[in-house]
Amino acid sequence: MKLDGNVAVITGGGGAMGGAQARLFANEGAAVCVADLFLEKAESVAADVVAGGGRSLAVQLDVRDASGWSAVVDATESRFGPVSILCNNAGANFRVGFDEQTEDMWNMLIGTMLTGSFLGTKAVVPSMRRGGGGVIVNLGSLASIRPGGGSPGYAAAKMGLVGLTRSTALSYAADNIRCVLVSPGHVDTPFIRADNPYSPNSSKTSIDNPDNYERRRKATPLGRLQTPEDIARAFLFVVSDDAAMVTGSMLTVDGGAAL
Ligand SMILES: NC(=O)c1ccc[n+]([C@@H]2O[C@H](COP(=O)([O-])OP(=O)(O)OC[C@H]3O[C@@H](n4cnc5c(N)ncnc54)[C@H](O)[C@@H]3O)[C@@H](O)[C@H]2O)c1
Repeated sequence: MKLDGNVAVITGGGGAMGGAQARLFANEGAAVCVADLFLEKAESVAADVVAGGGRSLAVQLDVRDASGWSAVVDATESRFGPVSILCNNAGANFRVGFDEQTEDMWNMLIGTMLTGSFLGTKAVVPSMRRGGGGVIVNLGSLASIRPGGGSPGYAAAKMGLVGLTRSTALSYAADNIRCVLVSPGHVDTPFIRADNPYSPNSSKTSIDNPDNYERRRKATPLGRLQTPEDIARAFLFVVSDDAAMVTGSMLTVDGGAAL
């Protein structure tokens, strides 16, 4: 039980990567607050956790909303105790270039991934201090390493998380709070497979299209897309005491795609 006594808040927790983290962390002894824009998705993951013998709470949260954040931290702390882990997974993308990307799209991308992670950090730090420390994990991307011309808002948000992670790590090291960026490569999830309101896909972009799947597979030297569980195991390392001296850094989990 690597996470006995821990309390985790997991955003995008109703999604594939967030859901895998919630199940794995609960198996390792953590209580998990599953937070998602869509309550029914959060409830379904929380029900899995409880069915597996774990402790879980499902909440609706738009990570762009500061008052929503304080309600979630209050609810989590009063149910399970001070928050010791925050995973900022919530994400969005519009796969269009500069000419087609609107200001509304830009604001949603920056708001969800960059401002959302900033607000989450501000919301959990007082709770982490009360508990004596904690770990914040931000979810990066290949765009945190080599942002391309595809979606300017996505590139700026994921690159921005490199700076936010370092700033958080240095600001709160004295409070025994670590912060790490985990950057996956191509992960088989609804984010790149389904047509979501926060991440639209068509046959031009979806990995349901075998050409797109194959392009991403070939771009991965280790020969396969990552699974949500591949990424969750890296998150577990980062939040556990095995990574006690890891802070401000990026852990790339991409099968070599960024090489
Ligand atoms: N799938 C990939 O190939 C890949 C690669 C690198 C990084 N990422 C990152 O992973 C995250 C997406 O996770 P996933 O791949 O498991 O996809 P997913 O679509 O299964 O999960 C994303 C979750 O975020 C939630 N969400 C969206 N906007 C939100 C908001 N404003 N507030 C709260 N929740 C919100 C969605 O409801 C969804 O449950 C994003 O940050 C994305 O940039 C994905």
